[in-house]
Amino acid sequence: MRQFPAFFNLDNASVVVFGGGEEARRKVRLLAATPARITVIVSKIDPGFAEEFAGRITIAPPEHAGPALDVARFAIVANRLDANAEKAITMARQYGVPLNVVDHPELCDFTVPSIIDRGDVVAAIGTNGSAPVLAKSIREKLEALLPKRIGDLAALASRLRPDVKAAIPDNKARRRFWEGALTGPTADLAYAGDIEGAEVAMRAQLASGTAAEGIVHIVGAGPGDPELLTLKALRLIQEADIVYFDRLVSEEILSLIRRDADRVPVGKSKGDHSVPQETIHELLIASAQEGKRVVRLKGGDPFIFGRGGEELEAVRAAGVAATVVPGISSALGCAAAAGLPLTHRDHAQSLTFVTGHAKAGGVPDLDWVSLARPAQTVVVFMGVGTSATIAEKIIAAGRAPSTPVAVIENGTRDNEIRVFGTLAELPHLIQRAGIKGPALLVIGEVAGLPAEAIAQAFKEHVA
Ligand SMILES: C[S@@+](CC[C@H](N)C(=O)[O-])C[C@H]1O[C@@H](n2cnc3c(N)ncnc32)[C@H](O)[C@@H]1O
Repeated sequence: MRQFPAFFNLDNASVVVFGGGEEARRKVRLLAATPARITVIVSKIDPGFAEEFAGRITIAPPEHAGPALDVARFAIVANRLDANAEKAITMARQYGVPLNVVDHPELCDFTVPSIIDRGDVVAAIGTNGSAPVLAKSIREKLEALLPKRIGDLAALASRLRPDVKAAIPDNKARRRFWEGALTGPTADLAYAGDIEGAEVAMRAQLASGTAAEGIVHIVGAGPGDPELLTLKALRLIQEADIVYFDRLVSEEILSLIRRDADRVPVGKSKGDHSVPQETIHELLIASAQEGKRVVRLKGGDPFIFGRGGEELEAVRAAGVAATVVPGISSALGCAAAAGLPLTHRDHAQSLTFVTGHAKAGGVPDLDWVSLARPAQTVVVFMGVGTSATIAEKIIAAGRAPSTPVAVIENGTRDNEIRVFGTLAELPHLIQRAGIKGPALLVIGEVAGLPAEAIAQAFKEHVA
């Protein structure tokens, strides 16, 4: 390590930036996020520069550089290495001010790292000035890993610090308290935006001397492709102590769960019987009450035909904290993967999601007349077993038998199957392709577009 990382304290401090071009502007943008007084020394400034930082910077000509450098904590030379820049460098050296010269690490006292700014939490990645592009790419990876509200959590810790110190004088015990508070379920509350809740939980923990209660995250796992997980879902899966998952959650996604976390399948148990919904509620509540970070992982989006709403109500009714993380519903994921636009200005002005499976079994009592209206797309979930009746009822209600349909099984997964045809032939399409589900039925003109595109591409290829 040739460079020693350190952070400048910029409370009540002044800094100087030489230059009025794009480079200077970038540096001023970074500095403007700090409390520093910023003086920009410039003889010619780009249009819009002064306006962008109005009220935030003082602009001064080169002849006023001396007084500014006299009180500066550091200086940045961000103009091209011409006579003006050389003069600025000489002056900064005369005043003994630590200096950064943009794009010239050999002239720098310090380099400006690639920065992740989360308020009180700041991460800086440096490469000794040798590969700033590499630093930027590392920063992008870290950005995805650091919760957006980690700075709020740090600010909360800073507010509570005196109380914690007074309540727990022993250093080791205090560290244990912070480890629990800043990495456990209380931290999750803060990351979910409930800073007040996190503060209440931390104070309760402090008063009782016990570990915090757990939390349940109801998380959408998307249609199967792990790259379609949200960043939040990925983080929660990796932090969970226990994961209750549905049958629809793909193996690749389950492999992202921490090795030492418990995994509990609740979609189907031995003998092919679903775990009763009430039992799932009890399991989620009991695990959280043991102080665990619980993830309830559900296929697609938890609130679309997923009973996530019931789980949320039950968990909250038991006084357990809960959050919901949306997922990409299979309808959206499968359609996108198939290049099938669910709405289209020329073909479908509305989109309806329906279930093809009634609570008591069989076909549900749907409004067939409304589903038969033209210029709309109907996506049927759980409709493989009832496809014959669904097609029959929609045709009887007035939709043309020639209406295009698509059936997508295991969408976005390696074993995905797509078939295209007409509403009249829907049950035969399913039977012929041996589709058993999970599958979606897409009914409407848009379902014909991928097949048309394939046919067109084939024609062009042959021609
Ligand atoms: C209980 S629902 C859950 C839906 C889920 N919450 C969502 O937003 O996609 C299960 C149905 O979703 C559909 N489904 C889920 N994942 C799918 C996939 N990868 N490919 C096709 N259909 C899928 C099937 O219709 C399946 O029977």
